[in-house]
Amino acid sequence: MSDKNKRELVVSAIENGTVIDHIPAGEVYKVVKILSLDMYEDEVLIGTNLSSKKYGKKGIIKVKNKFFEENDVNKIALIAPNATLIVIKDYEVVEKRKLEIPSTIKQIVKCINPNCITNIEDNIETNFTVVDKDPLKLQCHYCEKTMTNIRFNE
Ligand code: CTP
Ligand code: ZN
Repeated sequence: MSDKNKRELVVSAIENGTVIDHIPAGEVYKVVKILSLDMYEDEVLIGTNLSSKKYGKKGIIKVKNKFFEENDVNKIALIAPNATLIVIKDYEVVEKRKLEIPSTIKQIVKCINPNCITNIEDNIETNFTVVDKDPLKLQCHYCEKTMTNIRFNE
């Protein structure tokens, strides 16, 4: 068996769905959690501490029959900015994109300021400007508070 085939057997190929590759090994379960993949009812393949030439150790998540919306893609980018998102159709790679942290983040992140209007009123979506990407630093559009530890809205 060729080395490539052997490697592919580590986490088997999927027919249709999304592969999130090159996740830092320590962030795999965080990605599982923010995407609520523990509740997903189709197949989910998770590999962690896999050896990778580029990254030392990496994680990978393959989700059968799932194509993520932009909000979810941005969540992945905030946790694993160097991950690659791969869309698979009929066993073929049809799209491969390197994730990027967007310049503004709406709705998915919670403001840490308890007095912020977004935490008081139910109908105001959060809105942050990314002031620094590495390490990540966000500023709330409403209360102007900056934060480095991000929490996601449920
Ligand atoms: N993949 C998959 N199911 C398929 C096709 C591909 O799960 N039907 C996965 C592969 O296991 C790999 C990723 O999608 O993790 C990208 O596939 P491919 O571009 O073929 O792999 P590489 O050339 O190894 O990609 P890279 O060098 O970017 O890691
Ligand atoms: Zn705020």
